Amino acid sequence: MKWSSVGHPIVGMPSETPTGPHGERFETLSVTHGEEPDLSNGVGDVTSPIHLASTYAVDGIDMDTGLEDLDPDADEFLYTRLSNPTRHAVEKRIAALEGGDHAMAFASGTSAIVAAVMAAVEPGDHVVAFEDLYGGTNTMLKELFRDKLNVAVEFVDATDPEAVRAATTDDTALLWMETPTNPLLRLCDVEEMAAIADEHDALLGVDNTFMGPYFQRPLELGADVVVHSTTKYINGHSDSLGGVAVTSDDEFAQEVGFLQQVGMGNVMAPFDAYMVLRGLKTLPLRMRQHETNAAEVAAYLEAHEQVSAVHYPGLESHPQHDLADEQMDGHGGVLSFELDGDLGDVERFVAALDQFTLAVSLGGVESLVEHPGSMTHSPLPAEERAELGITDSLLRVSVGVEHPKDLLADLERGFEAMEAGSGESVQPSESDAEDEADATGETPTSSETAEAHLDDD
Ligand SMILES: Cc1ncc(COP(=O)(O)O)c(C=O)c1O
Repeated sequence: MKWSSVGHPIVGMPSETPTGPHGERFETLSVTHGEEPDLSNGVGDVTSPIHLASTYAVDGIDMDTGLEDLDPDADEFLYTRLSNPTRHAVEKRIAALEGGDHAMAFASGTSAIVAAVMAAVEPGDHVVAFEDLYGGTNTMLKELFRDKLNVAVEFVDATDPEAVRAATTDDTALLWMETPTNPLLRLCDVEEMAAIADEHDALLGVDNTFMGPYFQRPLELGADVVVHSTTKYINGHSDSLGGVAVTSDDEFAQEVGFLQQVGMGNVMAPFDAYMVLRGLKTLPLRMRQHETNAAEVAAYLEAHEQVSAVHYPGLESHPQHDLADEQMDGHGGVLSFELDGDLGDVERFVAALDQFTLAVSLGGVESLVEHPGSMTHSPLPAEERAELGITDSLLRVSVGVEHPKDLLADLERGFEAMEAGSGESVQPSESDAEDEADATGETPTSSETAEAHLDDD
């Protein structure tokens, strides 16, 4: 097995670290963990069926068994909001993949986050959060926790641990981080964040949606709770909404479980649990290809004269490239870049793309492009966007698993449309573009750059 000099598996190679309860490796856990063929019902499904029942027959009246005594591992179920066999299977699998003892699956990433934060804080507490969070989490912290529940929330630049240290006090109950962030792919040092949280008896929560457990496992780095929007890489096919919170802290898990099942009842539906179980089987395969393709796209964009900046932790030019290599096993499939142009150029560029669909979200097998200034981050006031570095010429791409040459050719179409400079151009088909370049021999510099990458396997 090949390993890189920093001890991470080389891109494209399976992981080596045994993490499962019986020493299984990540790829094995992804495929089978939590789903056991059950011959006792005479069927023996190899994959977990979608258990749609909302309620379950019980043996008889039993005054001695409380709800908390029901053991899903012994097939003891009462009511699906409390526990459901399909949801239980996905919770077991994700707990194992993240290296945690407990996982609770929710109706969305947002509901996993609200439960995790709610379980950590009380009115009067203080939260320190990365200023560069997913817009919905930013708004939740301000408009629900700060404005309605009297929790003070301070946003800081967590790329700098000293800024986090300075903001954290003994009233701080929670540090809430994403790494890398959306859309600028900034990192925070998870071990440092955990140390700061420990100094003040606070908890550290990390939203690991952008990397997924294949590339980053924050619990191993000292986080107390990890959340995902399973809507993204974990399901991986843009056809299910869900979330999960994972922790090894028994008491905290009880709190989150209470909110999931009783306090808010915002559980993952059985059909989504099935979709996620199925999506997870290919998580390592998908993540490797996402990363390979994203690395190609990032290198191509960085060499392009119509691009003024590329934000991708896998590039050596990324200011936190070394930290990325220390705490992540890969660099993921999302990146953002600045076009060297104005909003009209951005519009022309995006309109000419065939493979990259203009849409929010990320982590599916198909490539998506989005314009943070007018889409994901439009709720932020323009000045706040400017302060964060989200300009009108910034585009974010979620690089899918298509052939990388087709993706580069698509981006090249965008650059050609941008150069053509008029709204009425330019959406040549791939073959038209190639024919034209061959016929004239006058491919512009940007195309030459692209071709160098297109030829480069
Ligand atoms: C990093 C991150 N966390 C959480 C969420 C929210 O997830 P969901 O849409 O599943 O509620 C998103 C959604 O885009 C996200 O990007």
